[in-house]
Amino acid sequence: MKKHKKKIIVANIKMNLLSVLERDNYLKSLEGEIKKGGFDDVEVIFCPPSVYLESFSKTLKGKKVFVGAQNIHWEKKGTFTGEISAPMVKGINATHVIIGHSERRHGLGEDNEMVNRKLKAALEEGITPIFCFGETRNERDLGATKDVITKQIIEGLGDISPMKLSKIIFAYEPVWAISAGPGMPSVVPNSNEIMELRILVKKIITEKYGASRAEEIRITYGGSVNANILKPTCLDSGMDGALVGGESLIPLKFMELARMLNK
Ligand code: PGA
Repeated sequence: MKKHKKKIIVANIKMNLLSVLERDNYLKSLEGEIKKGGFDDVEVIFCPPSVYLESFSKTLKGKKVFVGAQNIHWEKKGTFTGEISAPMVKGINATHVIIGHSERRHGLGEDNEMVNRKLKAALEEGITPIFCFGETRNERDLGATKDVITKQIIEGLGDISPMKLSKIIFAYEPVWAISAGPGMPSVVPNSNEIMELRILVKKIITEKYGASRAEEIRITYGGSVNANILKPTCLDSGMDGALVGGESLIPLKFMELARMLNK
């Protein structure tokens, strides 16, 4: 029998919640939303800035939601100013980490080899990586989407073993669809375009690891997700959930998305 796959929703809080007061208000409002329930069949993950990882982890402990980092270094410890490592993330009971987000790839020079090292560092520590990939507007206009995605996935996975594959959450985020900030207008792909992309990812994984491994993996969509576009982008397209930026800044709106994913 096929294993039932839970839907996934990730709150990528990015560099927001600027003060302790703002963070506390967020957590308070989130606790209220969690109490309302209605998301039992969804894996809900909050990725706050690293300075708030511990407070999120403590406040949300035992509340059926998970906490993750937005990035890690591939080394465990040492002379890496400004970085945090997988054992640190694990040490405060966070369970997930976003890796290879386009804002790190394009803004901070993170390449596929670094992504590969980070994925392995997370897996080694038993942390679930949320592996982001996606094409830019320019790459899409040049008709290079397939090549770009294939390279990001093949080089990102590198020598990761087939056994570890199902531990990774794949996250397709077309860079051109990511919102530039709350309320900023954005263009998003339609459900057919996302479905085609999903098929491409499954094909890449099938060629590298075989069909049964490809069957197991979970793939989410990210890029301007809100209540109006969740259904076409994340459900009708056959995706396994959503990676949410802007809309995750309001717990009420974000948890409503989680409930919409709950079957
Ligand atoms: P967005 O961000 O929902 O604000 O477009 C998504 C992301 O970058 O992860």
